[in-house]
Amino acid sequence: MNPNASHPKILPGTPESIRRASQALRDGKLIGLPTETVYGLAARGDQPESVAKIFAAKQRPSTNPLILHVGHSDSVHPLVAMDSDITRRRFEAASSLWPGPLTLVLPRSESVLDCVTAGGNTVAVRVPAHPVALRLLREVSLPIAAPSANVSNYISPTRPEHVIDGLADSVQWVLDGGICDVGLESTVLSIADPNAPPTILREGVLSAAELERSLGETVTSATLSHSTQSDAAVAAPAASPGMHRKHYSPRTPLRLVSEQSRCPLSPDPNHPERVLRIRLRGAAEPMPGYADVWSLSPSGDLSKIANRLYDTLRRADSGQFDQIEIDQVTSLEWPSNTNPNLLAAIGDRLQRASNQDATDH
Ligand code: TXA
Ligand code: MG
Repeated sequence: MNPNASHPKILPGTPESIRRASQALRDGKLIGLPTETVYGLAARGDQPESVAKIFAAKQRPSTNPLILHVGHSDSVHPLVAMDSDITRRRFEAASSLWPGPLTLVLPRSESVLDCVTAGGNTVAVRVPAHPVALRLLREVSLPIAAPSANVSNYISPTRPEHVIDGLADSVQWVLDGGICDVGLESTVLSIADPNAPPTILREGVLSAAELERSLGETVTSATLSHSTQSDAAVAAPAASPGMHRKHYSPRTPLRLVSEQSRCPLSPDPNHPERVLRIRLRGAAEPMPGYADVWSLSPSGDLSKIANRLYDTLRRADSGQFDQIEIDQVTSLEWPSNTNPNLLAAIGDRLQRASNQDATDH
C-alpha cells in the first residue's frame, strides 16, 4: 500500500518511543508529533538553534510566529504576561477547553524567544488532545514549538507518512499517532487585548457558540462575519500572520466549482486533461469529462469532510491528474444545525488551496 507506512523513521507511539523522542527533543532534534488536529514539526521552543531548524526545514518565513505546545495549562504561566484581570479570567475560562483543538494568543512573557513570536508581543499556546502528544509534552517538560509538519504552503499532514513525504531528511523520528481525528489545524483565538472581545484569528473545528459558552461572552471572528451564514464561504483577509492567501496548496492546479456542476469547467477537446472531481458530499459516481470522481463524505458529514480533506488532496496530488476540481462550500445549502465555524474553516482552506497565483511566501 503506502511505501512510507513502514519508513524506518516512523516509530510506534509506545512509551519507549516517546522516551526516545523526548530525549531527541532535549538534544535539539526535530520530531514529527501527532496531535488531534494535524501532525506538528516539534522542537524545543526555548532554544534558538532548535527553533531555527523548524524554519529551515519548512522554508518558513521568519515573520510567521510559532505555537508553543505544553502538557498542562499550568505550564503556560511562565510563557505569558497576564497583567489584566480580564485576560486572566478569559484564560481560566478558555483553557477549560484544553486539552483540545484550541490555540490561545496571549501577551508574551520576557522568557519567550523572539524567533518564536516573530518579534511580536504576543505568544500562541496550546495543550493538544492526543495521548501521544500529551505524554511526550509531559515527559519532556519544556515548551515545544510545533507548526504543522509540512513544507510551507503545502498541505498539512494528517498521517505519519505525510510528514515523511516532505520532511524525512529533517526529522529524527515521527511518532505514529494514527490518523488525526480533526484533520484541520486548531482554532486560533486571541485574548491578548483585554479591551477587545476574544477574536478568532483562524477558524477550526470549534464553533463560536462553544467558545462563547466557555468564556461567557461574545466572541468575534476576524475571518467570518456571523451576519449571514453564506459569509462562511467567503475568503477572508489575513488576520493571523501565517494566514496568507496561498496556503495548503497541492502542486496540481486546483479550482473550486459549484456543487451542482456536472462536467469540468471549460473542457478543451483539443487538450484533453485528466481532471479529478472531488465532491464534498454525495455519491462518487462517474461524471462525463472527469477522469475520476471522489467523494469526501457521501452522507455529507462535515467532521468526516474535514477529517479526510488533506489526505485526499495529497492523494489527488500524486501526479495522476492534471487538474483538480473540488466543490465550493456553499453554506446556504447546508443543514441549519451545521457548525458555521467548521464550514468556514473548510471553505477557507479550500479557497487558499485554489490560489495558484499568489506569491506571499
Ligand atoms: O493545529 C495546530 O494548530 C497545529 C498543531 C501542530 O498544533 N499547528 C499549526 O501551526 O497549525 P502553524 O504554525 O502551521 O500555524 C499556526 C498559526 C499560523 O497562522 C501563525 O501565524 C499563527 O498560528 N500564530 C502563531 N503565533 C501567533 C501569534 N502570536 N499571534 C497571532 N497568530 C499567531
Ligand atoms: Mg501550517
